[in-house]
Amino acid sequence: MEKRRVNSMAMVFSPCFSPLLFLLFIVGCTARPLYPLPSKVAEGTRKPLQTSRPYNIAHRGSNGEIPEETAPAYMRAIEEGADFIETDILSSKDGVLICFHDVTLDDTTDVYQHKEFANRKRTYEVQGNNTTGFFTVDFTIKELKSLRVRQRYPFRDQQYNGQFTIITFEEYISIALDATRVVGIYPEIKNPVFINQQVKWPGGKRFEDKFVETLKKYGYKGSYLSKEWLAQPVFIQSFAPTSLIYASNLTDLPKILLIHDITVPTQDTDQSYWEITSDKYFDYIRKYVVGIGPWKDTVVPVEDNYLQTPTDLVAQAHSHNLQVHPYTYQNENQFLHLNFHQDPYQEYDYWINKIGVDGLFTDFTGSLNNYQEWTSSFSLNNSDDRASKLLHKIALMVTSYEKV
Ligand SMILES: *[C@@H]1O[C@H](CO)[C@@H](O)[C@H](O)[C@H]1NC(C)=O
Ligand SMILES: *[C@@H]1O[C@H](CO)[C@@H](O)[C@H](O)[C@H]1NC(C)=O
Ligand SMILES: *[C@@H]1O[C@H](CO)[C@@H](O)[C@H](O)[C@H]1NC(C)=O
Ligand SMILES: *[C@@H]1O[C@H](CO)[C@@H](O)[C@H](O)[C@H]1NC(C)=O
Repeated sequence: MEKRRVNSMAMVFSPCFSPLLFLLFIVGCTARPLYPLPSKVAEGTRKPLQTSRPYNIAHRGSNGEIPEETAPAYMRAIEEGADFIETDILSSKDGVLICFHDVTLDDTTDVYQHKEFANRKRTYEVQGNNTTGFFTVDFTIKELKSLRVRQRYPFRDQQYNGQFTIITFEEYISIALDATRVVGIYPEIKNPVFINQQVKWPGGKRFEDKFVETLKKYGYKGSYLSKEWLAQPVFIQSFAPTSLIYASNLTDLPKILLIHDITVPTQDTDQSYWEITSDKYFDYIRKYVVGIGPWKDTVVPVEDNYLQTPTDLVAQAHSHNLQVHPYTYQNENQFLHLNFHQDPYQEYDYWINKIGVDGLFTDFTGSLNNYQEWTSSFSLNNSDDRASKLLHKIALMVTSYEKV
């Protein structure tokens, strides 16, 4: 969008600037103002959330480029056009909510280089599995802040390792609220059974209470697409249905039920994949959630790295008025199924236009945004596009007229 806008501007202003065209340009653009300079803008003047195409959900920030869930990863995702920045919420030992994916620090921080923490290794049962490592719940927030985050995958850019800290839920919210346009947040109530076992808050409060309290503290409220919600959009996500149901007693903010691989039962209610994707269950859960977030390989099964016949999960969810936001889209060859000819745009085309999803969790927000911007220029349904095409035509006509 920005690139096209700049081009049409150059077209209008050169070589023959005309006040009439300038006026047309301004009129054409009032519906959607140009980006202001990157500084904080007054409330009410920020470019709104787009709601006309599937949501670009920046999975752990722009984590394809920058270590996951760090402030720079989120800021990059915002620059690259994310509608929502996505995160996982866990807790420190002293009850501070943090943005971090794994219950252990081992794979994505430098905790091993900190001799002072060498005696913190523990084994806990997490979702029915004995797991050994350095757990976030055994470190105070001050200790967690002394660690530095690392890139998870060896085939991604390693140059940022050791540079960025873990951030808190509140710091993450501030990044979204400070953006020069409206950027939504998409925090997960992560491993709530484990966190509630390990961390105790004053007054008998639960993890879910602290989570919703934090959102309310920063002004998040309202149901899906309400005026309040559009000003500060958020989806609350969890793999644990009881946490979402509990949270629905605390807030009417929209919620998304995440759905694991078909082999993994729910962590709180021990229900199978088949049970929670039945019509009966969708009828029940739709009272609490606005959509589901399935692993994409359960929507379209994969064999030998080739897609098989799609299931009817999307049609079934839509028939219950539930959105579908699958995870996770990743550019690299090792993740792209062979049907897509190593081309992530083909994958986006398939999921958006053939499968018809409502949002996509992507590690490469910039790629999804480019795909959506470039393909939207072929569509005449976007009024912004119509305005810029019209201007372009008029500019051409006037240019040739003035030459005569
Ligand atoms: C985890 O380890 C403990 C102690 O060795 C054992 O009692 C328990 O059964 C183990 N749990 C699982 C799920 O393997
Ligand atoms: C259990 O944890 C180990 C690592 O500690 C992991 O490799 C394994 O996949 C986990 N199993 C399940 C069923 O989650
Ligand atoms: C929701 O609140 C009502 C009234 O306070 C209570 O009876 C009910 O148990 C709560 N539900 C959940 C899931 O916490
Ligand atoms: C434009 O919108 C109409 C209905 O709103 C739809 O039927 C049509 O497919 C859209 N065209 C494109 C090119 O997206």
